[in-house]
Amino acid sequence: MIYLITGGSGFIGSHLIEQLLRNGHSVINIDNFDDFYDYQIKIKNTLESIGIISDFEFSDKETDIRHLISLSSSEKYTLYYQDIRDKKGLENIFKSHRIDMVIHLAALAGVRPSIERPLEYEEVNVRGSMNLWELCRDFNIKKFICASSSSVYGNNEKIPFSETDNVDHPISPYAATKKSGEILGHVYHKLYHIDMIQLRFFTVYGPRQRPDLAIHKFTKLISEGREIPFYGDGNTARDYTYIDDIIDGITRSILYLESHSDVYEILNLGENQVITLTEMVAAIEESLGIPAIKKILPMQPGDVTKTNADITKAKALIGYQPDTDFQNGIKKFVEWFLRKRQ
Ligand SMILES: NC(=O)c1ccc[n+]([C@@H]2O[C@H](COP(=O)([O-])OP(=O)(O)OC[C@H]3O[C@@H](n4cnc5c(N)ncnc54)[C@H](O)[C@@H]3O)[C@@H](O)[C@H]2O)c1
Repeated sequence: MIYLITGGSGFIGSHLIEQLLRNGHSVINIDNFDDFYDYQIKIKNTLESIGIISDFEFSDKETDIRHLISLSSSEKYTLYYQDIRDKKGLENIFKSHRIDMVIHLAALAGVRPSIERPLEYEEVNVRGSMNLWELCRDFNIKKFICASSSSVYGNNEKIPFSETDNVDHPISPYAATKKSGEILGHVYHKLYHIDMIQLRFFTVYGPRQRPDLAIHKFTKLISEGREIPFYGDGNTARDYTYIDDIIDGITRSILYLESHSDVYEILNLGENQVITLTEMVAAIEESLGIPAIKKILPMQPGDVTKTNADITKAKALIGYQPDTDFQNGIKKFVEWFLRKRQ
């Protein structure tokens, strides 16, 4: 099969590509190496995802990405340095390949920055997604997986969050763009018969995790003996999902889409385990063997107080079976973090 992955040089995308290539598939990766975090990290993700061990000599971004493209190009893998906001550029890619399925992970992620730059989030997460659906319609591509987010649940009080819950009350521009993606995706499913699964990921962590996310940020700061910003009283809680379980959920969604028609589904991919901020920091402290220095700060606007996934639907529909408990997952993350620093 030929899969077009957007955002394939990011955290989740690079793991997915690694898995698809391992299973013998062909992959087209579209990524604009945006500056949300250091492009060099995305170059390393890309190399790891395609199994190239290289002492990459970094110079400037444009040169480095050109070098990466020539280094990575193979019969099974093509990388495009392309922004999903540019429909013409995307169209040229769609013209050049026979694509079986699109797995759309590219987005501006992150809740807090979306409050600073809401229009940019709308351009990438809403318009960029629409560009892809328009092209799926034009090029008759009927299978689509889209990354949504647990943030669509806002501060819903009913726990755990279920796909049938009302999600009309997002509390950040990021969450609102993800909910828009679910709604607009449904329009393209209904009008143009594009089979689609929207996956609501619950805080994903593991090797290559984005450096802006709390687990990665805290691990770095604690390991350097620096203060961590500790928002609220420590009782905010997240359903943290280990990357291998997310990749398993995406892979099962791919298989489901390939074997069914007339599909539009929204699925929670979480671990169904709630970890408080205090517990999360304690797990990192234990794995690193270093105590954290906490700087207590007020809760941040846009941050939800608790997430917890009801995963009954994903279990029933695709056989999703997450099995990495948090203590174990954190141990694996910290091992990766310490290895990468050497
Ligand atoms: N990581 C999580 O905890 C989490 C939770 C919920 C939802 N999600 C969603 O999952 C997806 C992947 O997240 P991630 O953590 O891997 O993020 P990431 O930032 O590591 O990966 C996203 C990739 O998209 C690319 N990208 C951004 N804007 C682009 C554009 N305009 N054109 C082309 N490429 C662009 C980036 O360069 C990056 O490589 C995102 O849609 C995110 O919203 C992630």
